Amino acid sequence: MKQIKNGIYARLLTFVKPYWKRFILALLCMVFTGGLSAVMLWLIKDMVDKVLLNKNIFLLNLIPFLIIGISLLQGVFNYGQRYLMHWIGQKVVFDIRNKLYSHLQRLSLSFFSHKPVGEIISRLTSDITTMQNALSRAIGDIVKEGVTVVALVGLLIYFNWQLALISLAILPFVVKLTTNLSNKLRKMSRKVRKKMATLTSVIQETFSSIRIVKAFSMEKYEREKFKNRSKEYFKAEMKSQQIAALISPLVSLISSFGIAFIVWFGGKQVIEGAMTAGEFVAFMGGLLSLYRPMARLGDVSSVIQQAVASGERVFEILNITPDIKNPSNPVVISEFKDKIKFENVSFKYDEEVVLKDINFEINKGEIVAIVGPSGAGKTTIANLLARFYDPDKGRILIDGNDLRQVDILSLRNLLGIVTQDTILFNDTIYNNISYGKPEATEKEVIEAAKAANAHSFIEKMRNGYQTYIHERGQRLSGGQQQRIAIARALLKNPSILILDEATSEMDSESETLIQEALSRLLQSRTALVIAHRLSTIKSADKIVVLKDGRIVEMGKHNELMKKSGYYRYLYELQFRETSQT
Ligand SMILES: Nc1ncnc2c1ncn2[C@@H]1O[C@H](COP(=O)(O)OP(=O)(O)OP(=O)(O)O)[C@@H](O)[C@H]1O
Ligand SMILES: [Mg+2]
Repeated sequence: MKQIKNGIYARLLTFVKPYWKRFILALLCMVFTGGLSAVMLWLIKDMVDKVLLNKNIFLLNLIPFLIIGISLLQGVFNYGQRYLMHWIGQKVVFDIRNKLYSHLQRLSLSFFSHKPVGEIISRLTSDITTMQNALSRAIGDIVKEGVTVVALVGLLIYFNWQLALISLAILPFVVKLTTNLSNKLRKMSRKVRKKMATLTSVIQETFSSIRIVKAFSMEKYEREKFKNRSKEYFKAEMKSQQIAALISPLVSLISSFGIAFIVWFGGKQVIEGAMTAGEFVAFMGGLLSLYRPMARLGDVSSVIQQAVASGERVFEILNITPDIKNPSNPVVISEFKDKIKFENVSFKYDEEVVLKDINFEINKGEIVAIVGPSGAGKTTIANLLARFYDPDKGRILIDGNDLRQVDILSLRNLLGIVTQDTILFNDTIYNNISYGKPEATEKEVIEAAKAANAHSFIEKMRNGYQTYIHERGQRLSGGQQQRIAIARALLKNPSILILDEATSEMDSESETLIQEALSRLLQSRTALVIAHRLSTIKSADKIVVLKDGRIVEMGKHNELMKKSGYYRYLYELQFRETSQT
């Protein structure tokens, strides 16, 4: 545990490193702020001994100015350290957040299929903010209060070492107590962060699926779920606050024993003449003013514990190396020339094997269709071709190059993908179409929309192409969303198209519009088409029939129909269904 903790501090410090100049300046400010507290104490001693007892009028007139002057200086340094530390803290958080975001983008799909989005959001937001608190507050407190403590203790020893030793004897108890409590607190904080993440993912999930929630009248259920998660968070937070709140009262209770004894012992020494009254008053003042910095130092450890808990969660993600990485000497393919070949490809997402010994080729200019029942592994084949995952066995070759050797960016630039569930962004229709090609001209965008049979409905909308489609296109019909996705692929004009046909049912007019758009998309292109409506693929150059992750048949429509095998069975099944409805 200790190892991890130290690792996190070291790691945090590497983020502070670029700002070391400001950091040193801040440290200096803290040292001065702390040191000036000791100077104040010295003034108190002189006030009592030289002014009150020896009646030194000159000093009496001087001391008020000194008090104001010292306070002024202390104020300036305090301002400087606070401002600088917050600046550094925010800047570090800014850097870590950006780093985490770009790291997340490089992680492969398998990471995202195992982590709820809300969980990721909470790491990017609240966890990082907690770390910032620790950086700007804790470091500031440690140094400023630390210097104050050292300076005050030094002065106390100078005034009366015996008394000082007695007071310091309680210190180890206080330290032990605070460390014990803060270890507990760290464990609690980790739990609190986790609960926050669960809460965020509930929010994210219910509102991004609000339509389903309403359609199934699950509002009450979701409310209860939210309330329960919220309650768990509340409980965890309160438990950790219970411990956090205990620290400073306990520290002051233990300290009070020491102070009680010192008042008695010191008073006796003054009466016996072993100590001046001024020294005693200054000593007591010093001891009392030690309390605040000590208590803050006690609190610091709790702030740090919370930050460590958050830091663990942030660095845990930064430590994940993406499964899908660019090779060290990538082959850049600027053009697709010959063919794609699946060679003995087997694949599993988790435990269960999803694809077994897949062998087939897609020649340039060919349309290859994949058909098969739901769950057969069709989308998985598309995922492998786009190198969202790597095969466990076998390989996929593009013009003779293993995909694992190919520059990922150059591969994806060749591909156009229309996914099974249409994915639109919270942006204008125009920007959604030009998503893969931001440099496209307006004319090109409109042409793509026309070819996708989307232009006419877009034009009818109030703001035309500039209409905002909020939240994954909830304002558009399913067919309209698909046509925008097709326009997006058409505009990119990819050499290789992966088309994962949507399964959703549609009225025949919409269906015809989409079929038309699709056939334009497929024209003179190499394509891997995953078809659910078998009528779509009669003209495909090759049909790969998939069942339980294996290829059971392969050939053209007519050949497969003649064979009276699985394809024919599927085809007739679908034909019967459609003629019944
Ligand atoms: N991200 C994932 N993690 C784990 N298992 C997955 C994942 N995606 C798919 N699977 C599993 O892999 C198998 C094949 O899924 P795939 O999406 O390839 O089927 P499909 O043929 O496209 O089906 P459909 O016609 O319904 O779209 C299924 O059993 C599915 O449960
Ligand atoms: Mg699928």
